[in-house]
Amino acid sequence: MLGNFSYHNPTKLYFGENALDFLNEELKNYGKNVQLIYGGGSVKKTGIYDSVVAILKENGKEIFDDGGVMPNPTVEKLREGVRIARENKIDLLLAVGGGSCCDYAKAVSVSVHCDEDPWEKYYIRFEEPDCEIVPVGCILTMAGTGSEMNGGAVITNHGQKLKIGHVFSDDVMPKFSILNPKFTFSLPKRQMVSGIYDIFNHICEQYFSGDDDNTSDYLSEALMKSVIHSSYRAIEDPEDYEARSNIMWTATWALNTLISRGKTTDWMVHMLGQAVGAYTDATHGMTLAAVSLPYYRHILPYGLKKFVRFAEEVWGVCPDGRSDEEIASLGLERMEQWMKDIGVTMNITDLGASEEMIEGIADATIILDGGYKVLSRDEVVAILKESL
Ligand code: NZQ
Ligand code: ZN
Repeated sequence: MLGNFSYHNPTKLYFGENALDFLNEELKNYGKNVQLIYGGGSVKKTGIYDSVVAILKENGKEIFDDGGVMPNPTVEKLREGVRIARENKIDLLLAVGGGSCCDYAKAVSVSVHCDEDPWEKYYIRFEEPDCEIVPVGCILTMAGTGSEMNGGAVITNHGQKLKIGHVFSDDVMPKFSILNPKFTFSLPKRQMVSGIYDIFNHICEQYFSGDDDNTSDYLSEALMKSVIHSSYRAIEDPEDYEARSNIMWTATWALNTLISRGKTTDWMVHMLGQAVGAYTDATHGMTLAAVSLPYYRHILPYGLKKFVRFAEEVWGVCPDGRSDEEIASLGLERMEQWMKDIGVTMNITDLGASEEMIEGIADATIILDGGYKVLSRDEVVAILKESL
């Protein structure tokens, strides 16, 4: 491993069928006022909301309801959450839901005691918090983003047609996260596979960089194989606990900073996907799936060695009698077949994007330089056109 790094992850996890029981222990560490954050209502249908409320009441907490967090939470909702937290002197932000609720809770946490506008401060100027941070806890109901064990908080500004993620430092990460794989059983198939592709792509974003022999890459290959294997089983039987638990655990490790240690990282699929999301408000994992193959086919020649390794190690491509280019391309063909098998969206047209939006989406795409090729704006446009 060639990079120098530090590693610390402060989030305490409780995993398994009884994980929610541990909320009782955790609540002892925080004050009385709890802002209960959830989405559009799935947690009420499944009964998870009632179970959480019962535990909060048993522990003498005052509950301040903050529902209606939308997928891809908006800056307007963020400002509303900050208002609720300020008015009620909140001691704990408790998110019950998927990545959107967890991200939103983190964005609120750094904004409650901050006088400036959070969008300008954290998402335009990318400053770090210089105020008290309200603690966050998560009860996860959807596997995918890894938000339960990282500092990421993605916020969408529809007015400015921007969707931007800020990866905050350790002190913004959830203090604890409760992961019960059974809570994900009720996810609609489309959300489940979107999450699965999100996991896979998080790993790819950290895998496709660097040329050194790096333990992080071996870990990544194992995580990719696990999620591919479990994806088929979960589609066949969404209540296959073993598959759903592996998917949930893989999601956490795919983006809790472990597999990026000692490496640069790419993240261009996410930059393209987020820009598509800013224009279409489409489901996060689907935006990634829709731009992935055009992007990877474009950068393949620049990272050929890694794409050959990916084909052989992750997709089992036999190298015998094949050139490196053939092996690498076959790897992407197998990946494409898997994407079709699980049923992710394969183009941005199906997500609501059109030819006329391409220039605007390209403008909203942040170009990063950690992968095998720094894209020019023309290349971004070409990849987006290829994704239509
Ligand atoms: O809102 P409700 O009614 O709860 O329904 C949600 C939502 O419609 C539903 N859902 C969640 N759990 C369910 C369920 N439905 C039935 N049963 C359950 N158990 O699923 C829908 C999607 O939920 P959401 O939280 O939006 O999905 P996801 O976890 O994919 O989060 C997406 C957000 O996270 C950001 C994305 O950009 C997007 O804004 N990301 C955060 C990252 C991070 N923190 O590191 C990294 C990711 O790359 C990503 O960018
Ligand atoms: Zn993602």
